[in-house]
Amino acid sequence: MKLIIVGAPGAGKGTQAAILADTLKVPTISTGAVLRKEIADGTAFGKTADGYIKAGNLVPDEFMVELMKDRLSRDDCQNGFILDGFPRTVKQAEALDEMGVAIDKVLDIEVADEAIVERLSGRRECPSCRATYHTAYNPPKQADICDKCSAALTVREDDKPETIQNRLNVYHKSTEPLIDFYRKKGLLVVAQGQEEVTQTTKEVFRALGIE
Ligand code: AP5
Repeated sequence: MKLIIVGAPGAGKGTQAAILADTLKVPTISTGAVLRKEIADGTAFGKTADGYIKAGNLVPDEFMVELMKDRLSRDDCQNGFILDGFPRTVKQAEALDEMGVAIDKVLDIEVADEAIVERLSGRRECPSCRATYHTAYNPPKQADICDKCSAALTVREDDKPETIQNRLNVYHKSTEPLIDFYRKKGLLVVAQGQEEVTQTTKEVFRALGIE
């Protein structure tokens, strides 16, 4: 399946993408994770992206489109993929169409703005294997230690309260129009984000028609 996941920052796109990738046996491409790796590696592209991300703004479309052209042409994407974080503007969605990529479904995970701040401020990330946790909703077995690789968990730079609000504003202005864009193409399915990860997964599987 060639699947796009859209939703506000913190809606649970990355969490559900990891579960779906296991079930569907396709790779997940998280543009946020790709960008954070470029920053950690100190590449020229990472240096450009860093300021945008720290402020909670979008990296310009032309950079993202070039990045994804390269990524989607690789062998592991030929039998399907999950896109978590791309496209994020109508311009990026049009560029994806121009690449000739035929998307099967677009999953929108809906979560109210009020829940987002709580989710993002409690998020912890593994800097080594990129597993994501939440201090209350999805805690690691040992506080601040990754269950999978035992690395010390960290807080993302863009999960500060003032940045979270800007990310939400940017989402409503620049990314939400994608929902109509894909609804008109007949590709959109919607899952209501629930208070627990497992409940959300049930909604997601139902929306996608996965048994
Ligand atoms: P990115 O990393 O994609 O950030 P985002 O879209 O803001 O989404 P998040 O990763 O914050 O949240 P998520 O929806 O994946 O939620 P998660 O599963 O972690 O992008 C970062 C930045 O990169 C952007 O701001 C932008 O600058 C740049 N960028 C990336 N792509 C770009 C593009 N295409 N164009 C331009 N710029 C781009 O869950 C969040 C928390 O909630 C976790 O702690 C989790 O454990 C918890 N949780 C999840 N589900 C539930 C649940 N059901 N109940 C309770 N808690 C839950």
